Amino acid sequence: MKDYKRYLITSALPYANGPVHLGHLAGVYVPADIYVRYLRQRGRDVLFICGSDEHGVPITIKARKEGITPQDVVDRYHTLNKKAFADFGITFDIYSRTSNKVHHQTASEFFETLYDKGEFIEKTSKQYYDTEAKQFLADRYITGTCPKCHKEGAYGDQCEACGTSLNATDLINPKSALSGSVPELRDTLHWFLPLDKYEPWLKQWILEENKHWKSNVYGQCKSWIDAGLQPRAVSRDLDWGIPIPKRIKGSDGKVLYVWFDAPIGYISATKELTPDWEKYWKSDDTRLIHFIGKDNIVFHCIIFPAMLKAEGSYILPENIPANEFLNLEGDKISTSRNWAVWLHEYLEDFPGKQDVLRYVLCANAPEAKDNDFTWKDFQARNNNELVAILGNFVNRALVLTQKNCNGKVPAPGALNDFDKQTIAEMPKIKDQIESSLENFRLREALKFAMDFARLGNKYLADTEPWKLIKTVPERVNTILNISLQITANLSAIIESFLPDTAAKIRKMLNIDAITWENAYKTDNLKAGHQLGEPALLFDKIEDSQIEFQVEKLQKTKTANQALCAPVEPQKPNISFDDFSKMDIRVGTILAAEKVAKTQKLVKLTIDTGIDKRTVVSGIAEYYEPEKIIGQQVCILVNLEPRKIKGIDSQGMILMAEDANGKLCFAAPIDKTGNGSGVK
Ligand code: 2FM
Ligand code: ZN
Repeated sequence: MKDYKRYLITSALPYANGPVHLGHLAGVYVPADIYVRYLRQRGRDVLFICGSDEHGVPITIKARKEGITPQDVVDRYHTLNKKAFADFGITFDIYSRTSNKVHHQTASEFFETLYDKGEFIEKTSKQYYDTEAKQFLADRYITGTCPKCHKEGAYGDQCEACGTSLNATDLINPKSALSGSVPELRDTLHWFLPLDKYEPWLKQWILEENKHWKSNVYGQCKSWIDAGLQPRAVSRDLDWGIPIPKRIKGSDGKVLYVWFDAPIGYISATKELTPDWEKYWKSDDTRLIHFIGKDNIVFHCIIFPAMLKAEGSYILPENIPANEFLNLEGDKISTSRNWAVWLHEYLEDFPGKQDVLRYVLCANAPEAKDNDFTWKDFQARNNNELVAILGNFVNRALVLTQKNCNGKVPAPGALNDFDKQTIAEMPKIKDQIESSLENFRLREALKFAMDFARLGNKYLADTEPWKLIKTVPERVNTILNISLQITANLSAIIESFLPDTAAKIRKMLNIDAITWENAYKTDNLKAGHQLGEPALLFDKIEDSQIEFQVEKLQKTKTANQALCAPVEPQKPNISFDDFSKMDIRVGTILAAEKVAKTQKLVKLTIDTGIDKRTVVSGIAEYYEPEKIIGQQVCILVNLEPRKIKGIDSQGMILMAEDANGKLCFAAPIDKTGNGSGVK
């Protein structure tokens, strides 16, 4: 590899329209942080760039749903996500945002440069326009019937029922999601980046010159290129985003496409961070690396490089080690289905255990294929690896020294062959870690780092110093000295993976950080050096903690199934007269008790506004009687009285029953007078 003078490491700017979860950490941010921490340990000149991606249609949809502005949405999630990353020890040099001024300026200048160089094609095409809302509609704002599976509610870019990618004009019976009206097709002008023009160059650059990219990345690029590249629109009709510069004819009401401005965010964040930004972005001896997830490959490997090439003054990425996806307990992580482990929730349930999650996510990182996160595996890795190997070794070394040498590093005596062999392993493992990290094989690197702890564990297990204390104390001194030197080196070896743990070890050893270069030596701790207090690095995770997490997910699954289960088909029509025969009133529950010897029945006393009466209802599985006193309900008061379990039931409470049979009260949302009619 070329001799690079500095490193510019970016990690995908997450959309500021939702909280980050464990899939984000595993795929992008933990790997990027490990790599950056390692570079820093080696004393490299490195910048680590990230921030919030704050434009795009989904943010406007969320704002509209919640009745707030898009800026409110991004402010909320920018703050939340910035904190979540900091909590997990992700050490960005800057966590910026694309709604800020520097970014708007940088991105519009970039557009202008390309425009002035004649790099865009201008094209008029037909797009749906909402005549009531008076605006062009983004694909996500159009719904209709899917031409493929014929389900209602498909979006203009995709049918979520059958997964087909669509063009808005493919939809049958399109409707505007803004006003509900039928949109009409109107001409609109947009700017396109002619990717076809860059195809020969991309072929050469990616397929010939970047054969070292990961095979999942290279393969995806190859299939895009083989399929033939088309011009891509870089503008949108939208009122949220970076306006197309005013001086450009036809720019009214148009903004940059979010995927045009977002990667420029890497440049503007660097600009914000340092006046030296051009040294990083415009020198051939900078190694630019983008850490991303697999859904971002085309944008970072094909489109952004084509933009940079068109602009002409920037360097191109040297590598793009994209990861595949992490699933959760066998299912794809999904924000809308709440199928995720949210980082802030993890910290509530496992306070102080950031390193455990970093460890599990790296050990199980989806480097070559999609992988699954399970709570059982999380527990096993914590208990069998972190506690049993790493924690156990460090604890034994320190406690033995505390007990036998008053917590002072003992001077070593003569080394035997086994000592020498053990010591000789350290630089070998360190070299293996370096090679794995330099090639973005982080799982492998972590496995080697754990080998360092295994080495220490084995050394203690084989030398058994506790048996020699009375008989050969000089030998014990040698063994403990070597064990403590391994511990000190281990603190540097695991630093990038488990930064909190490394800091704890340093504290127990009472030392400052050991440089990477020295992390194999046997004189990092001087004889006589006073150690700190030993403490456990990790503790066991109990079955009950794991069961709690699994149950939490199970509840989400049940709730999702209820929402997705097929609903009953509609019954035959009735006349209005039929409907008016039912006398439905609002009432309040005054008393409730379970009907003895039944599972489901509750005897209710209800103030119907007309009278106080008894109704028997089958709700006991869903409501505890004492908790529903005072609840307003709707009651069919003129239902023929019936005897149920010997009780006269005078009417029927209306309940909503989902497809799984779960019941909930169908009651007025606002409190209203008892006896009010429901019509
Ligand atoms: O997929 C995403 O979450 C995008 N917001 C990533 C953008 S990366 C870069 F281009 F900014
Ligand atoms: Zn479909």
